[in-house]
Formats: sequence, C-alpha cells, structure tokens
Amino acid sequence: MSKKTIKDVQLKGKKVLMRVDFNVPMKNGVITDTNRIVQALPTIKYALEQGAKLILFSHLGRVKEEADLAKNDLAPVANKLAELLGQPVLFINATRGEVLEQAIAQLQEGEVVMFQNTRYEDLVGKKESKNDPELGAYWASLGDVFVNDAFGTAHRDAASNTGIAAHVKGESVSGFLLEKEIKFIGGAVDNPVHPFVAILGGAKVSDKISVIENLLTKADKVMICGAMAYTFFKALGYEVGKSKCEKDFVDYAKGLLEKANGKIVLPVDVVVANPSDEDCAADFFGAIAKAETKVVKVTEIPADWQGLDCGPATIEAYKKELEGAKTVVWNGPAGVFEVEKFAVGTKSICETLANLEGATTIIGGGDSAAAAISMGYESKFSHISTGGGASLEYLEGKALPGVVCLDDK
Ligand code: 3PG
Repeated sequence: MSKKTIKDVQLKGKKVLMRVDFNVPMKNGVITDTNRIVQALPTIKYALEQGAKLILFSHLGRVKEEADLAKNDLAPVANKLAELLGQPVLFINATRGEVLEQAIAQLQEGEVVMFQNTRYEDLVGKKESKNDPELGAYWASLGDVFVNDAFGTAHRDAASNTGIAAHVKGESVSGFLLEKEIKFIGGAVDNPVHPFVAILGGAKVSDKISVIENLLTKADKVMICGAMAYTFFKALGYEVGKSKCEKDFVDYAKGLLEKANGKIVLPVDVVVANPSDEDCAADFFGAIAKAETKVVKVTEIPADWQGLDCGPATIEAYKKELEGAKTVVWNGPAGVFEVEKFAVGTKSICETLANLEGATTIIGGGDSAAAAISMGYESKFSHISTGGGASLEYLEGKALPGVVCLDDK
C-alpha cells in the first residue's frame, strides 16, 4: 500500500498513540464478540515487542446524553484486552487531564495504557465526532507517533484519527489490520483477478446503491440476495406478498437491471412464511420461527406470505455462478440468518466460498461477517473485514479519511 505502516517507523522508547476500533457488541457489560480485539492483537503485540510505550484508545457506541456514558464504558474492553494479550492494561477512566498524563509519563517500554471511550468527548459539543481541532491537538500532544489500526472507523473524520494525524509531531502510519483491510478490499475493488463475483444481500437496496453501482463496473457478476432482492422482483413485475420491498426504489432497481446487461443475478426461488401481523409486531424473530414455511418460485409469492431466505434452486444456481470465481466479495446476508430455519441460504454461501479453490474470498463486514463467524467459518475466508460502514464505503470506491490522513511512503 502507498501509506507508511508501523514497520516503517522506529518505536523503541516512543510514546505510541494507537487508535483501535474496539466498538464491540456488548450485552449487560459482557462482550459478545471479541473479533475486533483479536484482530488488533498483532499490531499491539508488535508495538510492545519493539519497545513502544503504548497508549491505546477507541470509541464505543454513541454518546449523546449522560446515560450513554455508563452504557459505553470501555473498562470491560480493557479487561478483555489484558486477558487476550496476557499482560496488564492500565485503564484510565478519563479522556484527558492530569491522571491520564501522569499515567503516560510513567509508562515503561512494553507497557500499555488505555484511556476511556473517545466519544465521552461527544457529550458536550461532539468534540470527537466533529473532529474538534483542540481535541485532536491535545491527544496528539500525548505521544510521539500515531498508529491507526481502526479500519472500522476509517470512514469517520474524527479527532481520534484525522485530528491526531494532523497534529502529531512524528509519523502517522497504519497498523497491520488496517493494512490488511486495504490490501484485500482495495485489491478486490481496484485490481481484482477475474472472474470477479460480488454477492450483495441485506435488507435495503437504498443502503447499497453506491456499492451496487460501483461493483457493476468492476465485477463480472453481481448476485443479489436477502430482502433487497424483493425490490428487484417488484421491478420485474412480480408480486412479493408481505415481503420487505422498498417501493420508492422499484424504478431505480428497474433502471439498474436494464443497465447491468445481464450482470445482475437474482434468486429463482425463496422460502416464505406466513406469521400473523400481531405476532410480528410483538416479536418478529419469535413469530417467523414458529410460522409455517414453504418454498415458492419468485414469480409465485403468495399475497399473505413473506420471503425470508433463498430457496434450494437459488442455492444451486449461485453455487454454479461461483464455480471458477477468482475473486469474491460478499456483503449482506442471504436471509434472516438469526432464525435457524432461514439461515440456510447464508450458510450455503459460507460453505460454497469456504470450498472455492484458488479464489480470494472477502466478507465485507457487518451482518454477513457476524453470520460467518457465528456459523464457524471464521478461518475459511481470505479475509473477513472488521468494518461495517467502513467496508461498505470502501466498496463504493470512496476514499476513507482515516486512511487518507496517514503519511505516504
Ligand atoms: C462500526 O461499528 O461500524 C464502527 O465502529 C463505526 O461506528 P459508528 O458507526 O458508531 O461510527
């Protein structure tokens, strides 16, 4: 990559400011998925082995009001990091001030300090998220060099990434995770080995417009699945029953199909269910889990039923499309994978990609990454992105501020 990496700088004895994305899912103070922490470990360990005095920081959730502070306390994440790293992590419950500055002054080579959620600074004036220059300059003043390993946040222009890079006295470089994300996602988008197949799922066409547009110019095939397929079915004139469908985007989908020149591949059959509206309003997942299901052709979706997964003929057709692919990028699940009986399409994509020989397979973050990891396919892909919004923006072809701000080689 054209940006300097952590290998391009001297770290020994330096106070290294390292931005990580530890915005991990939590339930009642317990982390439910440690992937982002695990993925940052190589950079953290490397810095410590090189003799850095490491200052780590991350955002967690969004802080808009007082009550969000306790909900988004980073202390449990620091504890989990210490456990995974196998060494103490001194957690400072502040984002600035004397206690933090003292702790940094006392840091020895190979030791780690982590400070509180950078978005605590959002409580008054959104200083972190709006990239307040005073805050970026202050954080930059705490260290000698800046390492950005937070790919998941690279689409944000914040004080803790671009703000620090603008003010730090030494270099601003990428960590190994950010470098890897750019290598895989950037490589697929800018320089794919063909045949290049993109699989796009998830709920809404409107969320993925720019991704579809960009990938249509690069990929040989764009396979559409998940709820957004129903907007395309409607564009083709099919009835979709109670399936999710974005009426305002039907014409847009029609236009896309016309200009795609046969590149867009849609499901041929789907699994539908008929839960009652009341049950769905009370508990959607519970309602669809107990509802009756059947497989129908996409041209024959009954009026009172809703599509929740790809059908078996689609799974077979998609397997055929993927045969011989050399680059595959996948973003968005094929069905409501949170409910076992509608997880078959998503699981079969995992299985097919896991067995593709000689192909670079990339999951572009978000729900499909969570699904693949929870289904046990964590090590079966070339790369599973740690970015949700960031990987989508990168697949759209946008420049990411958290990458642009780093020093060129
Ligand atoms: C993410 O989870 O996508 C990143 O951590 C960014 O979080 P944000 O959408 O709250 O900025």
